[in-house]
Amino acid sequence: MFPRDFAWGAGTAAYQIEGGWQADGKGPSIWDTFCHEKGRVFGEQNGDEACSSYELWEKDLECIQQLGLTHYRLSLSWARLLPDGTTRHVNQKGVQYYNKVIDDLLACSVSPMVTLYHFDLPQALQDQGGWKSAATATLFDSYAKFCFQTFGDRVKLWITINEPYVCAKLGHEDGIHAPGLKEPGTAAYLVGHNMLRAHAMAWHSYNSRYRTQQEGAVSLAINSDWLEPLHAGRTEDIDATERLLAFTLGWFAWPVFVTGDYPEVMRSAIDAQSEKLGCGSRLPSFSKDEPAVLGTADFFALNYYTSRKVKPGAGCGEMLCMKSDRDAGEVLDPSWPVCGVSWLAVVPHGLRKLLKYIKDTFNNPAVYVTESGFSQVGPLQLHDVQRAEFHKDTILEVAKALQDDKVNVRGYFTWSLLDNFEWADGFSVRFGLFHVDFTDAKRSRTVYQSGREYAKIISKYKCGQ
Ligand code: NOJ
Repeated sequence: MFPRDFAWGAGTAAYQIEGGWQADGKGPSIWDTFCHEKGRVFGEQNGDEACSSYELWEKDLECIQQLGLTHYRLSLSWARLLPDGTTRHVNQKGVQYYNKVIDDLLACSVSPMVTLYHFDLPQALQDQGGWKSAATATLFDSYAKFCFQTFGDRVKLWITINEPYVCAKLGHEDGIHAPGLKEPGTAAYLVGHNMLRAHAMAWHSYNSRYRTQQEGAVSLAINSDWLEPLHAGRTEDIDATERLLAFTLGWFAWPVFVTGDYPEVMRSAIDAQSEKLGCGSRLPSFSKDEPAVLGTADFFALNYYTSRKVKPGAGCGEMLCMKSDRDAGEVLDPSWPVCGVSWLAVVPHGLRKLLKYIKDTFNNPAVYVTESGFSQVGPLQLHDVQRAEFHKDTILEVAKALQDDKVNVRGYFTWSLLDNFEWADGFSVRFGLFHVDFTDAKRSRTVYQSGREYAKIISKYKCGQ
């Protein structure tokens, strides 16, 4: 049912698990700063210690082995490697840490998939304008080259930036993620633009300097819900769905996979709104003098969590809010069960539809599902039957996408290996296949039922059955 070399993975991100926020010369990141400000995160929690993976990496490796993963997705902390964000000063302890992680994985026949940027910009770069500044994109390229040079002999799957949509929108428009800016309607587009430029520069650097020798593949991880019209036959709903897809998946996938520019629907909706408000164009343009964005992905990396029904309507009070630009409201189908957090309806079949859409829209790329997860809130349940069912059902949908729809799916990564620091929700939301006891200094890890079930699935399909 699954090809022999299908990647069976699980993922984590540096800030969410490592802790050691000041250990061995690490510089501060925007998430360190954000969490230390009052009122930003649930219960004033922070990732200062998190799962202590900086100290307890071997424990994570045991979990990885217990699941029988073929792949492990981790992210590098930019500020642990380059404390002020630049290659002027390299923190050798950080290099040693990631060298050990990568070497240990390979020694256990687990392939690393490495994300260069998972939300944690060095604070020093935020102080100079962060992602709103074009200079950050150039510094990201230098950081990426440093990582390709240092780890690329062993890492063959790279993600440049994780979920640029979330960084741009939640971090710079809604203000609920670091750096906590609330600048509706403009900053997010600028940030998204600089992230696309940063990604493109890094891909070109890999392509021209490292690809021949290292033979790896580079992409960016794009998050998208599956969206469909609230009423299948109603034109307004169909149009709203198209607009919303353009403003989420299309915002980043269109420039990289289709035209080198933003979706036309997105640009015209923003321009129409700008005209109404009497302000200039707010969506930046790509310059011909810069490295092209089109064609800068060797595969499609998709983070999928949930599905939505769509109808027109912004439902947003802000004058210059992205929601007004896209004029599309999202509705949950009452027949979909929800889990834990409010945004998470459980819709495994949405993934199959989205995979088919990606195949048809983006010219049949190789696809890795780089995240797929189910959250638990409230009392701890180690016997998490629903999460186990979710992964089983979702994997069956991937199988249908592979077999019936002929989508070129290359791997499935559950989010997450461990319960961890879930951003603004702190430790109140748990996505792990292993429970982590955050009250215990040893941060003991205990497998959930879903972890056991995932291990069974992997051992059943690993050899290409
Ligand atoms: C996507 C993000 O990449 C990850 O960091 C986060 O924990 C999960 N979504 C769940 O919200």
